[in-house]
Amino acid sequence: MLGCLTLFVAPSSSSSPFLSFNFNRLSHFRPSISLPSTTDLLRTTSRRLISATKKRSVSTMANEEENVKQKLSKLFEVALKVTVPSVVDVEPLVAACTGKFGDYQCNNAMGLWSKIKGKETEFKGPPAVGQAIMRNLPQSDIIESCSVAGPGFVNVKLSRNWMAQSIQRMLIDGIDAWAPRLPVRRAVVDFSSPNIAKEMHVGHLRSTIIGDTIARMLEFSRVEVLRRNHVGDWGTQFGMLIEFLFEKFSNWEDANEAAIGDLQEFYKESKKRFDSDPDFKERAQKAVVRLQGGEQKYRKAWTQICEISRNEFNRVYQRLGVQLEEKGESFYNPYIPAVLEELTSKNLVEDSQGARVIFLEGFNIPLIVVKSDGGYNYASTDLAAIWYRLNEEKAEWMIYVTDVGQQQHFDMVFKAAKRAGWLSTDDNAYPKASHVGFGLVLGDDKKRFRTRSSEVVRLADLLDEAKSRCKTTLIERGKGDEWTEEELEQTAEAIGYGAVKYADLKSNRLTNYTFSFDQMLNDKGNTAVYLQYAHARICSIIRKSGKDIEELKSMGAIVLDHADERALGLHLLQFSEVVEEACTNLLPNVLCEYLYNLSEFFTTFYSNCQVVGSAEETSRLLLCEATATVMRKCFYLLGIIPVYKI
Ligand code: ARG
Repeated sequence: MLGCLTLFVAPSSSSSPFLSFNFNRLSHFRPSISLPSTTDLLRTTSRRLISATKKRSVSTMANEEENVKQKLSKLFEVALKVTVPSVVDVEPLVAACTGKFGDYQCNNAMGLWSKIKGKETEFKGPPAVGQAIMRNLPQSDIIESCSVAGPGFVNVKLSRNWMAQSIQRMLIDGIDAWAPRLPVRRAVVDFSSPNIAKEMHVGHLRSTIIGDTIARMLEFSRVEVLRRNHVGDWGTQFGMLIEFLFEKFSNWEDANEAAIGDLQEFYKESKKRFDSDPDFKERAQKAVVRLQGGEQKYRKAWTQICEISRNEFNRVYQRLGVQLEEKGESFYNPYIPAVLEELTSKNLVEDSQGARVIFLEGFNIPLIVVKSDGGYNYASTDLAAIWYRLNEEKAEWMIYVTDVGQQQHFDMVFKAAKRAGWLSTDDNAYPKASHVGFGLVLGDDKKRFRTRSSEVVRLADLLDEAKSRCKTTLIERGKGDEWTEEELEQTAEAIGYGAVKYADLKSNRLTNYTFSFDQMLNDKGNTAVYLQYAHARICSIIRKSGKDIEELKSMGAIVLDHADERALGLHLLQFSEVVEEACTNLLPNVLCEYLYNLSEFFTTFYSNCQVVGSAEETSRLLLCEATATVMRKCFYLLGIIPVYKI
């Protein structure tokens, strides 16, 4: 089966992913400018469309689905071609900016100038190139005005009418209309991945939370995501566990979760036996061989132990609202021999001190793929998993979420896969693999997060505490009398779990993060609690207005005349490109920052613009609704359940 490897290569993405061209726009071109030949445009356009349809079957590629940056990039692409026809394939460098001259900026003039300087050209310097780019911009209803600043930056101020209409259309069509498009059809997100019978510690919590958010963001961007739990369900520790099971329970086959109790305790006890009793150790080592040889009794005991662990993991996932499909390390065992055979035939694997290894440039140690005792290991499993994900599951992007301590392992495995020709050697092309590393979880003392008795902190206890602290606060605020017990429970859970998740997601994942209930449950500052309050407040403004918001959506109109309305509107419109950036760079904190800023923009707007009872009431209520809608989508993507009243 593995003999004929079919390499799945996705069409490489063009510099501007998934752009389609709006042909209607061609009719808006100012007649005075000389256009790049229409056939040229059509040719590039149709090339893109073809690759787009190849990559995505359900795709209307309607222009409405592009975000602001993409729309502007396309206009600038045309302007750049017209301005300097001799330089081809210039990628428009368009970015949002916060200057008073514009909302977006195109920064191509300087780069272009360095390419044409000294050659025959009508331009005298980068500012002149900037001026020409501005003049050559096709007319568009998105743009209100442009200006050129400094060494040639072209500033764009968006049309507030167009902005208002876009927001209103989102309210009617739903937020999914603002989903970004990524040049990937199917991705594997390998996350959580705890080890059977060992504790699921805070490191796994980070992986679970970060991985789930990445999966959610990709799913929202219409990527099909295979959420993989690569649990450690194979390895030498099983000999010890199985032997201990036999020893402790004469009728071990009936030993269920209730009998075994705490699997972590069980692990510790058996480890003690293993370390102190040479006879037991020998039996345990033999048990591994018998398990790997497929002996039924051993298989059965193994399955039983895995099942108990699995139930425990699932309870945590359920509380966190996280979906995962388990394909543990053992799943890949049957694939390893043929995968290694292929790597050997490609001259990648060699013998070294009795082991089989892959030497890789840039690393001072080789990647061991067969241990000197003939056994497979973590690396051989991961190589087989890559092979499987590419060939059987047809994934184009494989994303691995673990602590940064595993960085080198993944660097080496990915490098080996590139040398085998499985992954693209160009990091911007597919198929590709990415390691999403994260730092340690620290306690208040800035040391590794532990309980007072220096035990590993259990996830379940952590979640319990977050929830109970929130419940106490709600009761202190008199909600115990106002709400039903169920409402109280649900709200405490949503706020508590949300706070734990957000605290983890908001910092750059590569840095260590200090776990502090006091900080994460603070209702001021950049916390989920603060954001939940902000959201609930918006909902209450709308509720108290007594207006039917659905009716306003279709009957009323948004107007962005006040500077603070406009600033809020602009931020709303940038939602899609922020999600795209967070997906592309695998950085959930980018989305957190956006969400926090959104609530700040809203606060400024709400302090300076009267909503209920003002002449602009309808428009402003719609802006409230749009803000709440985008906030809720952010919450959803971060795995947080929003509350509507606090
Ligand atoms: N079980 C591993 C651990 O707890 C994480 C597995 C990550 N995924 C992978 N494909 N190696 O450290």
